[in-house]
Amino acid sequence: MTVPGDEPSALRPIAMFDSGFGGLTVARAVIDLMPQERLVYLGDTARYPYGPRPAEEVRRFAHQIADELMRHDPKALVVACNTATAVALDELAERLDIPVFGVIEPGVRALARATRSGRVGVIGTVGTINSGAYQRAVAASAPDVELTALACPGLVEFVERGDTDSEQVHVLVERLLAPAVAAGIDALLLGCTHYPYLARTLSDVMGRDVVLVSSADETAFEVLAALANSGVADMSPGESHRVQPAPAPTFLTTGDVTWFADLGGRLLGPELVDAAHVALS
Ligand code: DGL
Repeated sequence: MTVPGDEPSALRPIAMFDSGFGGLTVARAVIDLMPQERLVYLGDTARYPYGPRPAEEVRRFAHQIADELMRHDPKALVVACNTATAVALDELAERLDIPVFGVIEPGVRALARATRSGRVGVIGTVGTINSGAYQRAVAASAPDVELTALACPGLVEFVERGDTDSEQVHVLVERLLAPAVAAGIDALLLGCTHYPYLARTLSDVMGRDVVLVSSADETAFEVLAALANSGVADMSPGESHRVQPAPAPTFLTTGDVTWFADLGGRLLGPELVDAAHVALS
C-alpha cells in the first residue's frame, strides 16, 4: 500500500470492484488491453449478490469499498458491477477526486453499434433493471432503438457455483429470455458482469444471429482512452523499459480467500493465484 501522493501518477494502480467474481471479466479486459498497468481488484464476496439488495444498501457498500480502495492511492476507479454502477456511479464520481468509470454507458454504446434492426435487449439483475439505468442510458444515447429490458434473477448464482452450461441453467435462460426472443432482437447486451461466462448458453437460446454484447472490452477501451488523454496512462513500452517491472495484480476479497483464489483463478486466468482478505462491515 502506498501513501497517497508519493508515486508518479502513471505508476499508480487502477482500482476496480465488483460484488464478487463477475467483475473479473472487466479485469481480464483491462489486463489484456493495458498489461503495463497495475490492477487492484476487490470482490465483495462476503456480501454478494448485490442484485436483490435495496439500492440504498448497495450504495453504502460501494462508498465503503471505494474508501478501502483509495488506501491504495489509485489513479482511477472502475465500478465493474452493473448493479453498483446503476445506483452509485454518479455519487462516487462526484465525491472522489480521481476518474470513476462504470460499465453501463460503454455497454450501451457497443449495443447501439451492434444492432442492425434497431431492436435490442439488455439483461441484468433485478437491482440493475429496476433502477432504470439502462433504459435511461439507451434513451439518452440511442433513442431510436427499441429496448427489451429483462431482469434475470438466479443466473448470477449459477455462475458463482461455477455452473455455466448445465441443463438447469439452460432451462432458466430459456424461460427468462423468452420475451427477448419474442421481440425479435438482434443484439443482446449482457448487463451483468457475470453473464459473459454464460455466453454459450445465452447464444444457444437466442440463436446465432443475435450478437451478444459485453461491456467488459468497451469499458477497458474507455479507461485507456481517458487515462491516455489525461496523461496518466502508463505508456511504458514493455517490461524491459521499466525502472521496475510491473507488479502482479492485487486481488482482495471480503469473503473466503481460498474460494476466491480457486474460482476466481478459473474464471480470470493465471494472473489470479492468491487473494488477500479485507474486512468490511
Ligand atoms: N456484479 C453484479 C452486476 O454486474 C452481479 C452480481 C450481483 O448480483 O451481485 O450486476
